Amino acid sequence: MKKLNLPGLFKKKPQPTLGVDLGSHTIKIVEFSQNGDSRQVKKVGRALLPQGAIVDGSIKEHDTVLEALQGLVSDLQPSLKRASTSISGYSVIVKRIHVPYMTEREIEENLIIESEKYVPFEISDVYIDFSILKTYEEDNGGSDIFLVAAKKEIVDQYANLLEGVGLTPSVIDVDAFTLVNAFELAFGKVEEPAVLIDIGASKTNLNVVKKGMPIFIRDMTMGGEQLTEAIQEATGLNREDAEAVKIGGTKDKVLAREIANAVQEMTGLWSNEIKKAISFFKSTAAPDEFPTCVFLSGGTSLMSGMEEFFSNTLGLETRRLNAFTGKKVDKNIDEKYLASVSPQMAIASGLAIRSAE
Ligand SMILES: Nc1ncnc2c1ncn2[C@@H]1O[C@H](COP(=O)(O)OP(=O)(O)OP(=O)(O)O)[C@@H](O)[C@H]1O
Ligand SMILES: [Mg+2]
Repeated sequence: MKKLNLPGLFKKKPQPTLGVDLGSHTIKIVEFSQNGDSRQVKKVGRALLPQGAIVDGSIKEHDTVLEALQGLVSDLQPSLKRASTSISGYSVIVKRIHVPYMTEREIEENLIIESEKYVPFEISDVYIDFSILKTYEEDNGGSDIFLVAAKKEIVDQYANLLEGVGLTPSVIDVDAFTLVNAFELAFGKVEEPAVLIDIGASKTNLNVVKKGMPIFIRDMTMGGEQLTEAIQEATGLNREDAEAVKIGGTKDKVLAREIANAVQEMTGLWSNEIKKAISFFKSTAAPDEFPTCVFLSGGTSLMSGMEEFFSNTLGLETRRLNAFTGKKVDKNIDEKYLASVSPQMAIASGLAIRSAE
């Protein structure tokens, strides 16, 4: 296997692999079966991880993660052995760069030289890959590419985990790119530019997508864990109880108000960060690249009121992303449950349609 592998991103017709999203809070797995062009959702599941098991995209407690992953795989009994997973965080660098006119082969050959300019790690410590975004035909104008460099140590950790539960690592991707796949899974190649925002537990991936291509990527260190901490601070509850009321709410009116205030304050900060990122993107983008709508995903997007909140604060129509939209669903999966967890499953769904070499 080519270790860091973005083959399905723009080129090949994707074939299903088992999508395994190793989040810092929840492991998610999605499996589709494919019949011609029609896909069926076969397996969907999630398992919680204890705090500290995965931090900043690095697996700190291998055995704990392995056990949780093994448990989930045993419960789901997926048919596919080939699996895809994705990484993000400090150990992955994704840079949009311009290279002079070259064939794809020549870009590949020059990748190390290009990478040395942009990658703040020893080149021998990283796997490098690229995807061509745009080729300027006129005057041998060169190409815009996404250069991706990921620490070998981290990619190998993720691959080892999959192997540890009897899966064959097929594609190791980057979280932000898989979101584009999830979006395409739901809506096809949409002309209108959209902002995809995946709010997890410890990080948020923001992506502007146009015609099935990511045109801007930004990772931010904000997520549901901050909400839990803010609720703890505001209410004096312990972590477990704060997490429970964050998700399940409370009948206690005073407590509910304290929680709402804490959440509003934190999400206000997030919204400012997101606005800044979108403004920055717009300052460098062509007007036909300006996004007109937002799709939310990640576990934290399940919180009630999130769509309205971002719609109001960002001034853009905002919806949750359901990558299972219009898909057939296996009879053993409860469709209501599926709809309720679909935004959290976005990255796993995008991974599940990765093509395998
Ligand atoms: N119904 C809900 N309401 C509010 N928050 C929720 C809900 N369900 C899950 N969460 C929160 O979503 C987060 C988990 O989401 P997700 O699975 O997307 O994160 P992750 O992928 O594990 O984390 P990361 O991508 O940041 O490493 C947790 O903070 C959890 O508390
Ligand atoms: Mg995540």
